[in-house]
Amino acid sequence: MELHMRLRQEPSEGRTCCVARQELLHFITLSEIPGADFLCGCPLIFSGESGTFPGVIIRFSFSELEQATGKFSDEQLIGVGGSSKVYRGQLADGKVVAVKKLRPLGGADEDYEFLSEIELLSRLNHCHVVPLLGYCSESQGRQLERLLVFECMSNGNLRDCLDLKQGKKAMEWQTRVSVALGAARGLEYLHEAAAPRILHRDIKSTNILLDDKFRAKITDLGMAKCLMNDGVTSCSSSPARMLGTFGYFAPEYAIVGKASLKSDVFSFGVVILELITGRQPIHKSPSTRTDESLVIWATSRLQDSRLVVSELPDPTLQGKFPAEEMQIMAHLARECLQWDPESRPTMTEVVQILSTIAPLHHGTKRRNLPMTFNLTTVSALLCSALLSFQF
Ligand SMILES: Nc1ncnc2c1ncn2[C@@H]1O[C@H](COP(=O)(O)OP(=O)(O)O)[C@@H](O)[C@H]1O
Ligand SMILES: [Mg+2]
Repeated sequence: MELHMRLRQEPSEGRTCCVARQELLHFITLSEIPGADFLCGCPLIFSGESGTFPGVIIRFSFSELEQATGKFSDEQLIGVGGSSKVYRGQLADGKVVAVKKLRPLGGADEDYEFLSEIELLSRLNHCHVVPLLGYCSESQGRQLERLLVFECMSNGNLRDCLDLKQGKKAMEWQTRVSVALGAARGLEYLHEAAAPRILHRDIKSTNILLDDKFRAKITDLGMAKCLMNDGVTSCSSSPARMLGTFGYFAPEYAIVGKASLKSDVFSFGVVILELITGRQPIHKSPSTRTDESLVIWATSRLQDSRLVVSELPDPTLQGKFPAEEMQIMAHLARECLQWDPESRPTMTEVVQILSTIAPLHHGTKRRNLPMTFNLTTVSALLCSALLSFQF
């Protein structure tokens, strides 16, 4: 592979820089370039024949991250996911970061998948997607340590906020609507604006993080897939490798393994239900003490506008929500959770609907719920939401 290398002279903290070729997922570090030791301390940007790689991320050493996280101490642990433990860390320059230490999986695909995730993350740039700052891939004894370094989101994940973990206060209705809109914008960006477009495949409340101002950001693209122009994933999703989380699977994905943008929309519908009800996607039924699906529990209630305001809302809201907005959120959830993927809205349509009820920055609201309709999907959705609402 021919690479054109150029140096960027910038004050640096003596770190090498990760660079990769987009198409070949090829990783180059200074140690792999013969005689390149003299370059240490200078960040590098590589460009291949198809252009400069768009994202430049820092390559950290394992010891640097070990030091930042107090040797990955339990006091610094801020999250445990399906594939990793996440630690709060402070870098030498004082910056607070989240260090995601991936569990070793073994297998030939392990490194490839890690590199794919970095390659994909390095191309993203959106205020509702958690930014990747750097990574580490280093052998420690016989084990390959793989770590990702992200900006730290001080309010943690949405699920913990709804569960009032660590003394968190109950989330007000307006915050919930803003979180829904922020997450919808992040997902819309992945679906429509990222190049190539991206299917997340694991949208859920623990993968939506909240910063100090409760702005929502999508994270955990470990299972994401790039889309070809026709909207089909670049790799066929084999049913033998079902990825994702119970409680969020769209029916067509659970049954035949068909992942699409609309299966992400279904999972987003489950998140909307969580915001409305506060319930977990799979929770213990108070009467039978068995596991119950939130989607199944909510479906009949979503059909009846009286039950939408009497039975669905999270008790921690203490009835403090505009009934009309609750109807619109419930209607949106119902549309996203349609059995037929084609009938579900796109994320752009979801964003448009949420924009009509989300507070503006200065705390006021857009009060422009459309009462005259040209029959676009959005206004049709809003129309039926409002018609089902008995004023
Ligand atoms: N950037 C971050 N800032 C704050 N907390 C984070 C951050 N990234 C992850 N976490 C916490 O760690 C949890 C697991 O992270 P995630 O990336 O979803 O890992 P996994 O791929 O193992 O599921 C999240 O639900 C969240 O609580
Ligand atoms: Mg996760």
